[in-house]
Amino acid sequence: MKRREFIRKSAASGIMTMAGAVLLKACHTEEDMIGEAGWIVAGGFERPLVIPPIVGGNIELTAGSATAGMLKGRATAVYGYSNGVPGPTIKALKGETVQVTLHNQLESETNVHWHGLVLPENMDGHPADTVSPGESLHYELPVLQRAGTYWYHPHPHGETARQVFMGLAGFFIVNDDDESALNLPTGQFELPILIQDKRFTGGALDYSPTEDEVMKGYLGERILINGVHAPYVEILRGWYRLRVLNGSTARVYNLAFSGSVPWFIIGADGGLLDKPYEANPQMLAPGERIDVLVNFSNASPGSDVYLKSLPFSRYDAQGRQGFNLLKFRIADQATESDFKLPDTLTSIQRIPESEAARTRVFDVARLAGGGGHGGGHAINGKMFDMDRVDETVNAGSTEIWVFDNASGDEIHPMHIHGVQFQVLDRTGGRNRLIPAETGWKDTVMVMPGETVRVIMTFPAYTGKFVFHCHNLEHEDDGMMSNYLIV
Ligand code: C2O
Ligand code: CU
Ligand code: CU
Repeated sequence: MKRREFIRKSAASGIMTMAGAVLLKACHTEEDMIGEAGWIVAGGFERPLVIPPIVGGNIELTAGSATAGMLKGRATAVYGYSNGVPGPTIKALKGETVQVTLHNQLESETNVHWHGLVLPENMDGHPADTVSPGESLHYELPVLQRAGTYWYHPHPHGETARQVFMGLAGFFIVNDDDESALNLPTGQFELPILIQDKRFTGGALDYSPTEDEVMKGYLGERILINGVHAPYVEILRGWYRLRVLNGSTARVYNLAFSGSVPWFIIGADGGLLDKPYEANPQMLAPGERIDVLVNFSNASPGSDVYLKSLPFSRYDAQGRQGFNLLKFRIADQATESDFKLPDTLTSIQRIPESEAARTRVFDVARLAGGGGHGGGHAINGKMFDMDRVDETVNAGSTEIWVFDNASGDEIHPMHIHGVQFQVLDRTGGRNRLIPAETGWKDTVMVMPGETVRVIMTFPAYTGKFVFHCHNLEHEDDGMMSNYLIV
């Protein structure tokens, strides 16, 4: 099948499912099945939001089979880190070294990648560094970077999407003194929000992408927050901090709040922005994080506010539908804090373009083998090869990397291991940066028609790292490259 035909065919099947979506509105119980994926099944928002336990220091992490109450009234067989979906939230202070022993009780190879952390090569979770079933792997993680919302997930090549989809993911939160000095809402007023879409067949989690779904990404019809479909959380009237992570394999969200609740973007992948940005709505691609302050002070007691995703596309199966993700039930009581939104948060040193020793351009639009059916996702026409080094960069040097999706027709959230970058600009498509892209990033969304330039200074750690599309179906299909820091 030619690419254009593929697009047309999916557009047609999209129209067929519109009818299904209308039907669904008439009788949307949680148990309803829907023939085509991609159209969201509304939930009841009757079960409480689950907050994963917090761990730190010296951690035992077991990847294994578990059960989770994802849907109302039944236990779903999943994979969990230490029986949790999400796994425990790892917290560390900048400067600390975190020890993690991973025990593999899955039936396949696995490993852990610490997404967003800048670590030595042998700690980063390169797809070549996996552990066999029944064995353990020790990670020693020197946390040297600024406060931020990072996360961890498996990275075995060809298996990443399935293992993440089945439940393996968790937050890795770094705190530091600069951030603490801001007295941002914390404790019960700081909520980790992991967004993941899931598909269920006969009540069981179902990861079985067809070839078309490898092209588009595997889109589940139920949206889970912290492992539960359509939950609610009781909220006092006041300020809350939400650390939002898109841990879906492929689905992009266009986040907003219902009603007129004021909310501000204060951080992104690599920590705080220079100041709070009033932003509505905000797109979030797989792998990306946003740090948000929400002011529920003036919400009416007893009312419901939703975190939702707004439509953002007229033609694609994802993006045509708006839906609710999480319900906030506003209590009578107000918080006791006298928190005021700060004018500034931190200072971000822009890396001058003149410091770049070199610019590399990556074609992310073209499939391997000329774009016909059967050609996999690729970077510069090359599919991932574990042993091939595609780029060599110098430790400590600054480079500009350009992700060119000008002629593409799929969304590619491009992610680079081992470094945090700054986004210089976006041309074509949306033609601008969004507020969350004005700080430090490790993943950047490149929509069809767009070319995005990023600038970064590579760390002193030498060795082999990967960069890839964080649409995990694309990644497993081969849209990943090795780069070597020398
Ligand atoms: Cu979160 Cu290599 O990825
Ligand atoms: Cu990563
Ligand atoms: Cu992609």
